Order: sequence, then C-alpha cells, then structure tokens
Amino acid sequence: MILVTGGAGFIGSNFVLDWLARSDEPVVNLDALTYAGNLENLAGIEGDPRHLFRHGDIGDAALLGGLLAEFRPRAVLHFAAESHVDRSILGPGDFVRTNVTGTFTLLQAAQGYWSGLDRAAQQAFRFLHVSTDEVYGSLGPDDASFSETTPYQPNSPYSASKAASDHFVRAWHHTYGLPTLTTNCSNNYGPFQFPEKLIPLVIANALAGKPLPIYGDGLNIRDWLYVGDHCDAIRQVLERGRVGETYNIGGWNEQTNLSVVRLICSILDGLHPASPVVPHEQLISFVKDRPGHDRRYAIDARKIERELGWRPAETFETGIRKTVAWYLDNQAWVGRVQSGGYRDWISRQYGGLNGQASP
Ligand SMILES: NC(=O)c1ccc[n+]([C@@H]2O[C@H](COP(=O)([O-])OP(=O)(O)OC[C@H]3O[C@@H](n4cnc5c(N)ncnc54)[C@H](O)[C@@H]3O)[C@@H](O)[C@H]2O)c1
Repeated sequence: MILVTGGAGFIGSNFVLDWLARSDEPVVNLDALTYAGNLENLAGIEGDPRHLFRHGDIGDAALLGGLLAEFRPRAVLHFAAESHVDRSILGPGDFVRTNVTGTFTLLQAAQGYWSGLDRAAQQAFRFLHVSTDEVYGSLGPDDASFSETTPYQPNSPYSASKAASDHFVRAWHHTYGLPTLTTNCSNNYGPFQFPEKLIPLVIANALAGKPLPIYGDGLNIRDWLYVGDHCDAIRQVLERGRVGETYNIGGWNEQTNLSVVRLICSILDGLHPASPVVPHEQLISFVKDRPGHDRRYAIDARKIERELGWRPAETFETGIRKTVAWYLDNQAWVGRVQSGGYRDWISRQYGGLNGQASP
C-alpha cells in the first residue's frame, strides 16, 4: 500500500480518487483537515476498504511512526502543506510548522521506518515529495523557463517554506540514502480546488454576480496544468523516476491572470446567455497588487517527457471547460466550503471583496 499525506486537499484528493480508479493498491490517507482539507472531496470512495483515512498532523512523530509500522507502505507521497501565498503573508508561522518542520518530521519517520526494512523492500521504497515551481522565483518576459537546474530564489513565505522542504528532502537522500523523488509543478486547476485560488474563485464569484478581483494589472503570468495531468505525472515519477532526482511538471501553457479570467467569463457567457451579468467580463475589478507578487512562472517540462514520456493530456481549453462544468454541477460543494471559518477569514483578509483573484 501507499501512504498519502494531505489527501483531503485539492490535489491530494484528486490523486487518491484517480489512484483507486486505476489500481487496487490501498491508500492510507493522513490529513489534519485544516480549512483546506475536506473529506467531502472523498465522498466517491466512502466505505471503500481500499481507502483508510487517518486524521492527524504530519508534525506528530509518534503518530507517523505508528502508521508506518502498522501499514508498512511501499511509498510515501507527501502532498500535505499550507498552500496559499496570501495566507503565508498574513501568517507565515503555520507555513514553517507544516511545510518545513512537518516535512522534516515526516522525513525522519520515513527514514527510521525505511532503515528497518529488508534490502529488497529498501530498494523498492520511495518518498515522493510534491512541490511547486514557485521555489524558483520570478521570471522576466524573455527569461528561459524554469528547469530542474534553475537556482532557487523563493520570494514569498509560502515558496520559501516549500524551498526549505525541498532542500531537506534532498539532504535526506544524500545523507541517509532515503530513496526520494521531488516534483516541482506549476499552477493546478480542476475539481475540488478551494475557492480562495484564482480559477474556482472567479467561477464562484461570476456565478454569484460578484466582482472578479484581479491583482495589479492582471498581467502576471502562470503556467496552468489540469490537476488530473499532475496526478498522472506523479504516478509516472513514482513508478519510473530516478531516485534522488527532481522533475519539473508543467502544462506548456503560459497565461496572464487576465486572459484566464476572460476565458472563464466567455465560457460562462455561453453557458448562461440569459444571466443578468452577461458579459461576465463586466465584473472584472482590478485591486491593489499582492506584496512581492511574482511576475512570471514558466516550466520547462522536457526532462519528464524525455525520461518518462509524460506530457499533459488536456489542453487549457479542454481542461478549463471541464473545470467550469464541474463547478456548475457542484455549486452545493462550493457553498458548503465557503461557509463558516472560510468566510470569516476572507472578510478579515479582504474586507468586502470576497477574496482576491490570484493563485
Ligand atoms: N495547488 C497548486 O497549484 C500546486 C502547484 C504545485 C504544487 N503544489 C503542492 O501540492 C501540494 C498540495 O497542494 P493543494 O493545492 O492540494 O493544497 P491544499 O491546501 O488544497 O491541501 C493541503 C492538504 O494538506 C492538509 N494539511 C495541511 N497541514 C497539514 C498537516 N500539518 N498535517 C497533515 N495534513 C495537513 C490539509 O488539511 C489539506 O487537506 C502542496 O504541497 C503544494 O505545495 C500545489
């Protein structure tokens, strides 16, 4: 079996669902259920004996040791993190606790477990660390895309904490021989993404006739990847990636925030021609920029294609249409996620604006 951390979050829950749709290998899913963790994402596998959910924190060494001894996984896939840049600006401590100290605690537990395995099991074991392209910093318009050898230059508390975790993973391989793999992926979008991030926030606000707030001039560029393609890349790296290596994962799809929002608006116009807010673009509202906002991210994903034959299956047009359709079909999910603690936080952070439209 495999142990997944953070499997009730956006990418983790997509990964667990995809995994069990393709394989009978059981998954132990450890998640602290922070504001971003939502067991409802996993309703499709409720009662499935192949999915074993455990509520707990990756910073709890005793819990980790017990889980590893009990389930004896062949791999740990580490998704759990604090993941929102805006939250990291407001409260960086949680990012250090989970992303840095939590990853360190998980590495120590994994290494303790791994060192007690027999030789064949040691060779087969993998620790796969899921990370971000944000560790590389910001690009100018004509700079080459991020490759696996681009120096780290994290600019936000979030990306600094992820960079630190990447370095610990690297060190646990070089120092202790733990068979690690690291993936650095660009911005994901798709079902079950918490509506504080650009794409689900814009869809939810547009449907509600609320402003679509965009930071600065809206010309910050991100590379966007459909979450199912990210999950597929992670499975390929897990099975065939070279131990100790890092793999950049991207969609070959650079877009300005403004063009993403405009595309979503035009899809919604087509789906809801009678809506009083057509064209939805009229809801766009430019707001004060995020401090230290990185201008451009772009991923050079040639290594994973060359070594593992992976390329994204979705284009941005197909992926974003699927995503808009999913949010339309799952408005009750959005409504529940937006209630309670989430709404309180949004109003403290953003006043009346219902969240900033930025990834
Ligand atoms: N979302 C993206 O676009 C993107 C892109 C590249 C990489 N990543 C990375 O992928 C991973 C998953 O991102 P996401 O967008 O799904 O995040 P998310 O915020 O949606 O989910 C994070 C999950 O981790 C859990 N969690 C948080 N702290 C925990 C702790 N201390 N112990 C156990 N569980 C804890 C949360 O409850 C939640 O279920 C992160 O490591 C992130 O850095 C995300």
